[in-house]
Amino acid sequence: MKKLTLTLALSLCANFAIFAEDDIKASAERGKAVFMQTCMACHQPTGLGIPGAFPPFDGSEYVQGDTKRLVALVIKGYMGPIEVKGQKFNNILIAVDTQFPMLKENAKLADVLNYVRTAWSNKADKAITPEFIQKVRDEFKDRTTPWNAEDLAKAFPAK
Ligand code: HEC
Repeated sequence: MKKLTLTLALSLCANFAIFAEDDIKASAERGKAVFMQTCMACHQPTGLGIPGAFPPFDGSEYVQGDTKRLVALVIKGYMGPIEVKGQKFNNILIAVDTQFPMLKENAKLADVLNYVRTAWSNKADKAITPEFIQKVRDEFKDRTTPWNAEDLAKAFPAK
């Protein structure tokens, strides 16, 4: 009986792992079309951005790192100096759902983020969910200005 329970538990775990993978894949597939209508114009279809103007997504520590920081960054925007993959930028990202109202829909925003987190050489196996995005929106609901380097580092200290 013990053995049976264990086998059952293990196979359930395996199923969950497969579901998680499918989730991010399916979401990223939907997200590609969203990316083409939104981020692509600046960050480029290659995910490489444009040196001096638009930072890259491919290999970006912001795209690949802490998912809460990524969601917070895109929903509030970012202004001023930022370093991505050793390249410096000093521009502005307007909150993405101000630029593209369709991204007020958490599911659409989750899809596009799952796409950029798995496209090009980026790798992620855990999907960003619409529920997670709502949690981050709630947590930072009082912030009315874009992030800057100092505020972002304070809210998300290096681990
Ligand atoms: C109009 C141009 C533009 C569009 C469209 C745009 N961005 Fe950006 N984005 C920028 C700029 C410029 C910066 C750097 C801001 C700075 O220098 O302060 C940036 C920075 C970022 C960063 C942090 C740096 C990096 O490259 O990892 C992320 C993450 C990001 N954008 C996500 C997105 C997402 C997701 C979308 C689409 C939903 C998007 N952006 C659409 C211009 C844009």
